[in-house]
Amino acid sequence: MKGTTEPGAGGKSLLCARDVSKQYQNKTVVDHISLQLGKGVYGLLGANGAGKTTLMRMLCGILRPTQGQITLAGKPVTGEEYRAMLGYLPQDFGYYPDFTGKEFLLYMAALKGMPKPWANQKSRELLEVVGLAEQADKKIKTYSGGMKQRLGIAQALLNDPLLLVLDEPTAGLDPKERVRFRELIAQAGQSSIVLLSTHIVSDVEHIADSILMMKAGRLIYQGKWEENKGDLEAFYLEQFGEEMGKSPAAGRKKQKEAQPGGGRQK
Ligand SMILES: Nc1ncnc2c1ncn2[C@@H]1O[C@H](COP(=O)(O)OP(=O)(O)O)[C@@H](O)[C@H]1O
Ligand SMILES: [Mg+2]
Repeated sequence: MKGTTEPGAGGKSLLCARDVSKQYQNKTVVDHISLQLGKGVYGLLGANGAGKTTLMRMLCGILRPTQGQITLAGKPVTGEEYRAMLGYLPQDFGYYPDFTGKEFLLYMAALKGMPKPWANQKSRELLEVVGLAEQADKKIKTYSGGMKQRLGIAQALLNDPLLLVLDEPTAGLDPKERVRFRELIAQAGQSSIVLLSTHIVSDVEHIADSILMMKAGRLIYQGKWEENKGDLEAFYLEQFGEEMGKSPAAGRKKQKEAQPGGGRQK
């Protein structure tokens, strides 16, 4: 292990991934990805199968990379200190239908080893923040998809994480809930590194400070998306239109060998 704990460029990078790969048998699912992220909101975009979940699970210490190192504020991903700074909403999050929202948060807080008074206060506070205060004592099985998703975000925020990883958090949210969600994320991005994955451009277009675009395990774009680069959605469809099948129009529009404009990295 290298002994360096420097935060990276500009002293602002807190999450550092160096040359991270994941291989299954002969298949490379995450292919030499390096990241240096400071506080803010990052939108991880990519079609299904691009490798988003695999990358996120490695950043959360659940999956061991085949290669590469990951640190948060200089702490290795394998350690307890890293875990204490992390909040994670998995893509397929298992809720307990017979728990109430409040019980669920208290339960998750206990799993995170939070002392009871802090857990109580934080749960109450977060139920308010995600707009579930009135439903706090109702069973989760009575919640809508959006309410469950908000509860999932609340549990990820329990320990005031420095790194908040949300895997497809907008799935199943209605338009009104999307607005609330954006506000929540923007707020979290003030004090944390928020990494959220989606395959829907409009989910991150306006809230992400930075875009990370993955295709076939590789990072094909990283950075701010600026107007002068054109339309993000158009660029995205150019990358994925043909393989997504869902948008034949986009696929047809650019049949020439994908050769997008600037801002693209190898
Ligand atoms: N345990 C595994 N064994 C083999 N292949 C896997 C495994 N997990 C994921 N994959 C493959 O890795 C690719 C990326 O998956 P995933 O990270 O879930 O992508 P995304 O979240 O972008 O949809 C997919 O082709 C998937 O089938
Ligand atoms: Mg996924």
